[in-house]
Amino acid sequence: MNRILVTHDGSKASDKALKKAVEIGLKFGASITVLSVIPELYLTELSDVDRERIVQVMTEETQNAMEKIRSSLSGKSIDAKIILRQGDPAEKILETAKKMKVDLIVTGSHGRHGAKKFLLGSVSSRIVDYSTCPVLVVK
Ligand SMILES: Nc1ncnc2c1ncn2[C@@H]1O[C@H](COP(=O)(O)OP(=O)(O)OP(=O)(O)O)[C@@H](O)[C@H]1O
Ligand SMILES: [Mg+2]
Repeated sequence: MNRILVTHDGSKASDKALKKAVEIGLKFGASITVLSVIPELYLTELSDVDRERIVQVMTEETQNAMEKIRSSLSGKSIDAKIILRQGDPAEKILETAKKMKVDLIVTGSHGRHGAKKFLLGSVSSRIVDYSTCPVLVVK
């Protein structure tokens, strides 16, 4: 186990996933990459100005969340990197996992938006379905 990809959307569940990934990374001497994807907005009723503003706010929010993660990881003796992407979350996560040839994807079971009645959120569910490497869903 060399490389672990952690998916983070700012939710409590993804904080739990990150914690678990750090634990595993430290045990195995593996590096971790924290990936947060800023989703694209498909709401056609939005004007371009509104869309840009929303994306800007989401980007700032994500950058702040990643900054917090960066400082929380800085004291730990783990090789950690944080990356931001924009697009369809599951697609970008699967693409990054493949490109980086990671050994494990760690994800939360739910995220910021979902209804708890579903067993898994749509992003984690697509990761489990389509990933070609092992996936750990943290509950
Ligand atoms: N934009 C994202 N960037 C990175 N990781 C994400 C993103 N969205 C979700 N994840 C990862 O997937 C996990 C599950 O979130 P998911 O989005 O599947 O559930 P949800 O928000 O509860 O439901 P849904 O989005 O389907 O309404 C999160 O804990 C996080 O680890
Ligand atoms: Mg979600």
